[in-house]
Amino acid sequence: MTTKSVAELLSEDVKLQDVTVKGWVRTFRANRFIALNDGSTINNIQCVVDFENFEEALLKRITTGAAIEVMGELVESQGKGQSVEIQVKSIEIHGDSDPEAYPIQPKKHTFEFLRENAHLRTRTNTFSAVMRLRSSLSFAIHKYFNDNGFYYMHTPIITGSDAEGAGEMFRVTGLDPKNPPLNEDGEIDYKQDFFGKETNLTVSGQLEAETYAMSLGKVYTFGPTFRAENSNTSRHLAEFWMIEPEVAFMDLAGNMDLAEDFMKSVLSYVLKHNREDLEFLDKRLQEEEKKLPQAQRSPMNLIDKIKFVVDNNFKRVSYTEAIEILRNSKPNKKKKFNYIIEEWGADLQSEHERFLVEKHFKCPVILFDYPANIKAFYMRLNEDGKTVRAMDILFPGIGEMVGGSQREERLDVLKEKMVALDIPEEELWWYLDLRKYGTAVHSGFGLGFERLVMFTTGMGNIRDVIPYPRTPQNAEF
Ligand code: 4AD
Ligand code: MG
Repeated sequence: MTTKSVAELLSEDVKLQDVTVKGWVRTFRANRFIALNDGSTINNIQCVVDFENFEEALLKRITTGAAIEVMGELVESQGKGQSVEIQVKSIEIHGDSDPEAYPIQPKKHTFEFLRENAHLRTRTNTFSAVMRLRSSLSFAIHKYFNDNGFYYMHTPIITGSDAEGAGEMFRVTGLDPKNPPLNEDGEIDYKQDFFGKETNLTVSGQLEAETYAMSLGKVYTFGPTFRAENSNTSRHLAEFWMIEPEVAFMDLAGNMDLAEDFMKSVLSYVLKHNREDLEFLDKRLQEEEKKLPQAQRSPMNLIDKIKFVVDNNFKRVSYTEAIEILRNSKPNKKKKFNYIIEEWGADLQSEHERFLVEKHFKCPVILFDYPANIKAFYMRLNEDGKTVRAMDILFPGIGEMVGGSQREERLDVLKEKMVALDIPEEELWWYLDLRKYGTAVHSGFGLGFERLVMFTTGMGNIRDVIPYPRTPQNAEF
């Protein structure tokens, strides 16, 4: 007797005696057809029950959500839509599921409802497909870096430094709430948060990754990062995963090449290995879009959008050129878009980014050489003295997917910048050391993993591509 996954059974083309499969009941129709799913594929296996051979009491326990084990013969299916099915010989119930109380009924649920049942939502087709893709993308990311000579490094979660200098950190406190240390004024001394030091949850592993790039050459991190920004958008989480490669002796142009090649490679991987899930999500989206007026429908379906990114070059445009394009663009008559930017130096709003990728270029865009004053302290100052070697990669439907730069490798310039921004040298002495001992041109970027999963799955809300989203409203579970 062999136990097989549903995916394995569905790929069999021969008759098999006595196979066993275990999973959760999706539906049980006419006291005869069990649709069983075990998470190995979007598809269910049909298990055909000859009800006369089974006790009524047992059949009653085969309800949506119940965990069961089925033994029988794998045969060619009589019905449409599946190649094989199981003629059931025996059934064992592992766990009952009260059909009245079980939240995941065999019908369409709203994503809001499923978010409240995040512990059960992967029992649905949509969420199981999304999470299988999330897993596959993670694997493809590690594979890409491993194939290309990068080392995977683990950067700390608890840290004293603010890598982005944006002050968006969650404080870590180890203070005894009953007996907190007090300062001279008798107030709680938060400077002693973590065994005498002020510490936070990391916003980025970049600075530590830079230290390893300056010895191991090519490294990357892939881990959770935290931002204490109170933004309730469909693209922001308080806890998200970021992929951050960092490479010594690589300049900004090399950084753009790396980011583009990397993204194309991981997307090709899922096109090849996750076809069924992508096709399911594609169909789901097309059905959703049918409800929209023609003008709001997307011109390309999901799989074609992914293929388009894989097959076409990203457009590389400097910030200054982008401002020119935005200035020359006519405001939309319906006032939905008004892109006029008065001054060089302003940060781009998401409306501007959307105009550039969705209306103007209609492809992923790498924007580079931003004004120094709207970007982080560590970016390499250009010879013009006013722009830095920064790059953001913007994706249609998503906006900013990647933020990266060539790093300032010159000690004096970096120190000046830190003084100007009030960043104490004592906090980053180790970072400055890299510029003292064998400094070199180096670059890297950060890719927001959930935004990549959104693009790949076509999901519209970032809360629906991470198992347990953390947002200002949502930190249960
Ligand atoms: O642009 P960011 O802030 O860049 C950095 O953190 C650099 N230290 C990265 C580096 O150069 N190593 O963040 C990088 C990416 C963004 O482009 C976006 O995709 C994602 O991280 N991101 C978020 N994703 C979800 N929720 C949030 N609150 C995010 N903030 C940034
Ligand atoms: Mg950014």
